[in-house]
Amino acid sequence: MKITVVGAGAVGATCADNIARKELAEELVLVDIKEGFAEGKAMDMMQTAALLGFDTKIVGSTNDYTKTAGTDVAVITSGIPRKPGMTREELIGINAGIVKGVTENILKYSPNAIIVVISNPMDTMTYLALKSSGLPKNRIIGMGGILDSARFKYYLSQELKCSSNDLHGVVVGGHGDTTMIPLTRLAHLNGLPVSNLLEADALKKIAADTMVGGATLTGLLGTSAWYAPGAAGAALVESIVRDEKKLFPCCVSLEGEYGQSDICMGVPVVIGKNGWEKIVDYKLNEEEQAAFNKSADSVRAMNNVLVEMKLV
Ligand code: 2OP
Repeated sequence: MKITVVGAGAVGATCADNIARKELAEELVLVDIKEGFAEGKAMDMMQTAALLGFDTKIVGSTNDYTKTAGTDVAVITSGIPRKPGMTREELIGINAGIVKGVTENILKYSPNAIIVVISNPMDTMTYLALKSSGLPKNRIIGMGGILDSARFKYYLSQELKCSSNDLHGVVVGGHGDTTMIPLTRLAHLNGLPVSNLLEADALKKIAADTMVGGATLTGLLGTSAWYAPGAAGAALVESIVRDEKKLFPCCVSLEGEYGQSDICMGVPVVIGKNGWEKIVDYKLNEEEQAAFNKSADSVRAMNNVLVEMKLV
């Protein structure tokens, strides 16, 4: 198994670190445009092998995609991260051109690769990768819902004073501060609905905190978060390379599912060796479906910017 992570910044490097520690590949290639940066990160990570006990070979590359040839799964994290006060959507002007170019370069040397998109605005970058590459839809997966769901479980666990691992909670819709939809109705603590355990106001606050989870961290850190985004990317890669068939909310191409078409948005999907293999219908109630439709309107408006930029 060969995995490539493009973008050796904080998210890409953390994702690569998780992939190496879990030994998800024999070879892991880290690519960055900054001269020597990916090589340096790769060498630093390789020097943890004797301490952590993994055998994955990590190779760094300054924009030389020949080194990525034969990649099975490619993770795209390239582009600029947001700064405090910025929305993910404001990044589109710069990141769209970068993500399109990276997708082309990956596929030139690895025509069979499954592509995981992390760059923001993620729903639109996933749509761009799908439209510009013409790949079968199952091979393009946007990473957002897994991360947002992990944050949802974090906030629930803080309030319930329980382990995040005993919680089940799913966030669907767009990966934006106002577009994501934590499905509070379906969240549970090992089978016990959280609505039996917390007051409506507390649940509302948890959902609101989840939605701005990334922005809260950007405010604290001065840039985008990386530990949870990197770990979420690696969890997605793990389900692909180990064919785990995990059910994760991911951004995928919708063709009528959840009432939407010609758009990539977060819905629960089964992730395995073929990429995303099946969309699972959670049967949203009227209120949730209305929120999903509103979220789709925002994502679609952002996708239209790609048309104006003549990128799709
Ligand atoms: C986040 O929410 C990077 O979009 C990512 O932290």
